[in-house]
Amino acid sequence: MKEREGKIRLVKVKLKGLKKYFGKVKAVDDISLEINPGEFVVLLGPSGCGKTTLLRCVSGLEVVTTGKVFFDEDDVTYLSPKDRNISMVFQNYAIWPHMTVNNNIGFPLRIKRYSQKEIEKRVNWAAELLGIDNLLDRYPVQLSGGQRQRVAVARAIVMEPKVLLMDEPLSNLDALLRVRMRAEIRKLQENLKVTTIYVTHDQVEAMTMGNRIAVLNQGILQQFGSSEEIYHNPVNTFVAGFIGSPQMNFIEVEIVSQGKELFLKTKGLEVSLLDKYKDKVSKLSGKRKYILGVRPEHIYVSGRAQTDKVAATKGKVYFAELLRSDTVLHLEKEFGFLVVKAPGDLKIKEGKEIEILVDLLRIHLFDKDTGKAIF
Ligand SMILES: Nc1ncnc2c1ncn2[C@@H]1O[C@H](COP(=O)(O)OP(=O)(O)OP(=O)(O)O)[C@@H](O)[C@H]1O
Ligand SMILES: [Mg+2]
Repeated sequence: MKEREGKIRLVKVKLKGLKKYFGKVKAVDDISLEINPGEFVVLLGPSGCGKTTLLRCVSGLEVVTTGKVFFDEDDVTYLSPKDRNISMVFQNYAIWPHMTVNNNIGFPLRIKRYSQKEIEKRVNWAAELLGIDNLLDRYPVQLSGGQRQRVAVARAIVMEPKVLLMDEPLSNLDALLRVRMRAEIRKLQENLKVTTIYVTHDQVEAMTMGNRIAVLNQGILQQFGSSEEIYHNPVNTFVAGFIGSPQMNFIEVEIVSQGKELFLKTKGLEVSLLDKYKDKVSKLSGKRKYILGVRPEHIYVSGRAQTDKVAATKGKVYFAELLRSDTVLHLEKEFGFLVVKAPGDLKIKEGKEIEILVDLLRIHLFDKDTGKAIF
């Protein structure tokens, strides 16, 4: 891929106590984040959690209620979008139907009165990067969805923005194309190294694309970390439940001590705690309620465990989803259904009782009332 001699300057984006209220709706509620120069950060959360609003506050399309936005040390909170040197890619592409691909990509440059020669040079550079240099004379109606999306991205990068903002840019594409464009956008960003904020409600997109992920819920930042941190150490039940498919199992348990041992217990399941968790748990009040969290992929069918640090229990197979790559088992337990992600080659009959093993190293414990993780 051809580079434009590293002309894009890398900036750090800092959000400080950002709030955006629409009347009583707290769309963005006191968010502070620091995004490193050249980093690819994903804003992830359910519909209505404030992702677009937060992105629009960074772009300047939305005026913040309180708080500040910095690009490096510059306070840009009250600068208009055109003075921030940002580009935004929207979900619906927003490319002009009456303009050729060439003119669409060059549009921001013409507005800023770049010379014809410079426009041509930059349009060719961006079109080549996106692999659409053979489509420059076509109109949007003559393009596929994926090609249109590439035009929108090319148009976003011709200005060589300091910050690239993308709001669910792939959600209109079919599943296969989405996977391909995901990889393309990631590679393009690695190549340009432009600081990027990417909005999605798709956890797989977030996990595979972001250097770091900011998980939002109801306008509040829940957790900001690498995909590894968010998957292995979710800070609360919201993050734990939002990341991972099938979803983490949540089971209400009591903490019981017997001699030196500690157990998480409910009817039909008894999980002993490894030493590394004991300190955190022995301090807890026995009066509160707790939730044991365990991901379906961390419960093994008997004989298939890679570890001997397990708690065994039994369950009747109520339903087996035969995906062939995996088998997702829904087991009937005293406390409800327990979901287990088993290997695809497993021969299993619905109605049969099987033994399963909970991985003691991969369990999570949450306070039921606050939802906060204990470990
Ligand atoms: N202009 C507006 N006026 C009033 N309320 C608004 C406005 N824009 C957004 N909201 C509200 O703010 C909250 C956050 O909206 P936002 O569009 O940021 O969510 P989102 O996370 O982008 O959701 P989605 O995934 O559906 O795009 C919602 O409750 C929404 O109804
Ligand atoms: Mg949105």
